[in-house]
Amino acid sequence: MDRYVVTLSRFILEEERSHPTATGNLTSILYDITHAAKLIHREVSKAGLVDILGMAGHENVHGEEVRKLDDYAHDVMFNAMDHGGNLCVMASEESESLMPIPTQFPTGEYVLLYDPLDGSSNIDANISIGTIFSIHTRVSEGGPGGLEDCLQPGSRQVAAGYVMYGSSTVLVYTTGSGVHGFTLDPSIGEFLLSHRDIRIPEPGKRIYSVNEGNFDRWSPNQQALVNELRTGCHEEPFSARYVGSLVADFHRTLLYGGLFMYPGDNKNTAGKLRLLYEAAPLALLCEHAGGLATNGREDILGIQPESLHQRTPLYMGNRRWVEMAGEYLAGGDGT
Ligand code: AHG
Ligand code: MN
Ligand code: MN
Repeated sequence: MDRYVVTLSRFILEEERSHPTATGNLTSILYDITHAAKLIHREVSKAGLVDILGMAGHENVHGEEVRKLDDYAHDVMFNAMDHGGNLCVMASEESESLMPIPTQFPTGEYVLLYDPLDGSSNIDANISIGTIFSIHTRVSEGGPGGLEDCLQPGSRQVAAGYVMYGSSTVLVYTTGSGVHGFTLDPSIGEFLLSHRDIRIPEPGKRIYSVNEGNFDRWSPNQQALVNELRTGCHEEPFSARYVGSLVADFHRTLLYGGLFMYPGDNKNTAGKLRLLYEAAPLALLCEHAGGLATNGREDILGIQPESLHQRTPLYMGNRRWVEMAGEYLAGGDGT
């Protein structure tokens, strides 16, 4: 006998009903995202079986080799979202410029920013990858949306989430009333509620997550911070865990606790991760789950974006450890 299950569709609908002013438009955007997620899941889960691995033969705006699944996920998201009449503009990691809503479709009040496939370098090794999305309401009046609709601080997001294609496919999102996780049951093609109201455990597991291959490029304060975490001068030492897929490293941090870092360094002072469709949506989830997300100095959600693909250093996880990181980066010793 199946225990009582709540589908994502039902959960979104019930959330909508609990907001008297809800129009249902955000609900239909979330529905469309889950449809795209199922299509991407299908390709990811059989990626080894069809000729979809390997390079797509061109580079994206960041000069990174684009793999076919990046292209596929980018197109699937766009085609799932372009006709609903709820969006006025989209932006994607895989598109240098804004993506207008095709003229044959009506425009709406919302903006979608997304990283169609996060962790691309891990695709061929069958390591967890993901899709990250961020939703704002437009600031311009009517018709096609523009850059000003996309360049809003993370604190103004009305919804954010990610899909992680791992040992199971999980969708985690927030519209501001808690962070909730749903696991895809492929046998019925439904996301079922599996993690209601996720809270980062306090105290969290003593895990730090950073690419130590960049150690020599870090500032002395960043190096001192990681040495402190390794040796645990304050208390017992931390364990190191690093997948190299932001969604996987974040999902673990959300469920177990810990400290995730992607610092700036002497080669890329702003680090590697993008503000609009990686750091800001995960920061919203992190903070709604009781954690903290900063760029080492200030809250990610308070940063006013200047450009679509701008990067930011990222520190997120348990509040006390993100704050400790900030103290080290400011030259203190975290005491
Ligand atoms: P994307 O595949 O969307 O470009 O993102 C890759 C990012 C992120 O997933 C991860 O945290 C980071 O790249 C890993 O970078 P390093 O390999 O430099 O550690
Ligand atoms: Mn990414
Ligand atoms: Mn990506």
